[in-house]
Amino acid sequence: MAFEIIKIENLKKYYRLGDSEVRAVDGVDLTVSKGEFLGIVGASGSGKSTLLNLIGGLCTPTGGRITVEDGELTEMSSRRLAKYRAKQIGMVFQSFNLIPHRTALSNVELALYFNGAPALKRKSSAQDILIKLGMGDRLKHKPDDLSGGEQQRIAIARALVKNPPILLVDEPTGNLDRENSISVAEIFAQWNRQGGTIIMVTHNLELAEKYTHRIMKMDFGRIV
Ligand SMILES: Nc1ncnc2c1ncn2[C@@H]1O[C@H](COP(=O)(O)OP(=O)(O)O)[C@@H](O)[C@H]1O
Ligand SMILES: [Mg+2]
Repeated sequence: MAFEIIKIENLKKYYRLGDSEVRAVDGVDLTVSKGEFLGIVGASGSGKSTLLNLIGGLCTPTGGRITVEDGELTEMSSRRLAKYRAKQIGMVFQSFNLIPHRTALSNVELALYFNGAPALKRKSSAQDILIKLGMGDRLKHKPDDLSGGEQQRIAIARALVKNPPILLVDEPTGNLDRENSISVAEIFAQWNRQGGTIIMVTHNLELAEKYTHRIMKMDFGRIV
């Protein structure tokens, strides 16, 4: 049997808004195998981003369990959870979340800062991955001076530079045209062929069907 890199059991995340409760994630069971490329689709508001944030350890569940190689997330000390986020997880956000006043190179280097890598190593690793993603002549550019496709490449470089076993990607092609979408999907597919595990949320069913191994649909916080 394939090695289970992520095991999710009855996962729930509820938000309280005044008198009402939003059930963003409402009883999700899911197992992801090592080396799998999993696609998640679903309408806006169905809980896809919340699920990724829970797996990435960015928020705490209201109930249920997420078990990874390092253990169960809610049982980890904040220090261990921080280490999990820094070493095991790479995240690519829809809105890129780049730091505007820093160069492409510096944005990527910063991802290694919390990894404890020495400065010279940080710089050379960041440079290598940006060159690999076709950004070699944009190292000194700041995000505002780059196109959407280029900014997305920096965001991907920042996630991949840590060489994380698990990559969580939230609507990576939401702001890109067709050509850039395909080249971004190719980057993930190549990284997946080298053994990386990917969970990718996307609106683009065509891309999901072409590149992922399995597609899961979310609706009202559940897998359908
Ligand atoms: N921090 C929050 N506080 C309150 N409600 C939230 C919060 N984050 C997400 N939600 C709600 O949870 C639901 C799922 O959101 P989200 O996971 O962002 O969906 P998706 O990524 O599928 O569009 C939505 O109804 C959203 O409004
Ligand atoms: Mg979302």
